[in-house]
Amino acid sequence: MATTVSMDTIISLCKRRGFIFQSSEIYGGMGNTWDYGPLGVELKRNVKNAWWRAVVYEREDVEGLDAAILMHPRVWEASGHVESFSDPLVDCKVCRRRFRADDITEQRCPVCGGALTEARQFNLMFRTFVGPVEDAGSTVYLRPETAQGIFVNMHNVATAMRRKLPFGIAQTGKAFRNEITPKNFTFRTLEFEQMEMEFFVKPGTDDEWFEHWVNERRTWYIRFGINPDHLRLRPHAADELAHYAKACQDVEYQFPMGWLELEGIANRTDFDLGRHAQFSSKDLSYYDDVTKERFIPYVIEPSAGADRATLAFLLDAYREETVNDRSRTVLAFHKDLAPVKAAVFPLLKRETQLVETAKRIAADLRRHFNTQYDDTANIGRLYRRQDEIGTLFCVTVDMDTLQDQQVTVRDRDSMTQERVPADRVKQYLLDKLSQ
Ligand code: GAP
Repeated sequence: MATTVSMDTIISLCKRRGFIFQSSEIYGGMGNTWDYGPLGVELKRNVKNAWWRAVVYEREDVEGLDAAILMHPRVWEASGHVESFSDPLVDCKVCRRRFRADDITEQRCPVCGGALTEARQFNLMFRTFVGPVEDAGSTVYLRPETAQGIFVNMHNVATAMRRKLPFGIAQTGKAFRNEITPKNFTFRTLEFEQMEMEFFVKPGTDDEWFEHWVNERRTWYIRFGINPDHLRLRPHAADELAHYAKACQDVEYQFPMGWLELEGIANRTDFDLGRHAQFSSKDLSYYDDVTKERFIPYVIEPSAGADRATLAFLLDAYREETVNDRSRTVLAFHKDLAPVKAAVFPLLKRETQLVETAKRIAADLRRHFNTQYDDTANIGRLYRRQDEIGTLFCVTVDMDTLQDQQVTVRDRDSMTQERVPADRVKQYLLDKLSQ
């Protein structure tokens, strides 16, 4: 079954409930840049943490890294980005709008029908300058991928951590691309976060590791809640491959606008290390002390977008349900991704003792996971509010609590309610969250 929610529904929920806002909105907005609100920042952080846990902590063969965004400009010459990281661009001679040539089907402007210029190559890297003089000698680039920070540190990491092949280096962080026609909410933006890992292997074992990482990465999305029917793998045709790749498979998600890439897994061969060795004149080869061979390692790269993954998790979690004649909207996030784990309410706001107890429980829970306290509506409305942001558990303090010292815990998905001793509720929720 296809994802049924429309992008407009998600965009509106994201704004209303504090997940994602248009950037610089009070100035009319900045095209295709978005700001993550209080719930969005939690959700995206949870997505990145889930990735880091699976790719770094749960494996014994991957290390982490956080390299600088600004790098030596020669890096981008060596990587091939200065020469070939570009899109073909056409301009409308009448309305001056700009399009990617490969998005144009008729040879006319899709907006006003005007004639178009010849296609020309447009480099996607943002440029800036270091220091007060703006000339070629001071030009640096905002990184268009996080991967290069890993390649240039491969030997530092291997030496410091006493690593032998095969091993990987993982990194999350911002990347920037001057996309010509960014669109579709956070799917394609000018700045975005990547979750990349370069896995260094002995040449000849690369095909096997490529298959391994394609499977690992597809499984990760399912593990954290994506319906497998909404995912597919798509191998790249030879003419689509990036300049560095021997093979590539995309993990695609069925977005409302069609099947589109969430992540690419590429066999980058020895291209990057070979080019950095050549451009830096440093020996970046690896000596295998078992086989006594020296070679440049091959690299398998799973490269995911944190913003695209967050968008897919939002779309896939969205449900509209009618239960006992009452309708609700719920974001059925995986427990590790839900931005808020628990909400605590007093049944009656005017009962001081209920309010104090609820606030005390919320403060205690907050020390362990993200918890909200709310007393600004009736209980039905409070439940609906929390369902709509995907909160896993609602804890209600009612008049009975004052007698029996128990609270009601409601489960988001089953909506079942259970009485739990107030002094056990923290442990009860911690147990549920760790299952
Ligand atoms: N290091 C390889 C690399 O950067 P890519 O396919 O160009 O490969 C990897 O990018 C991932 O980064 C994509 O699958 C996508 O999730 C994300 N991504 C790329 N460009 C993006 C953009 N303009 N906006 C949001 N995410 C983007």
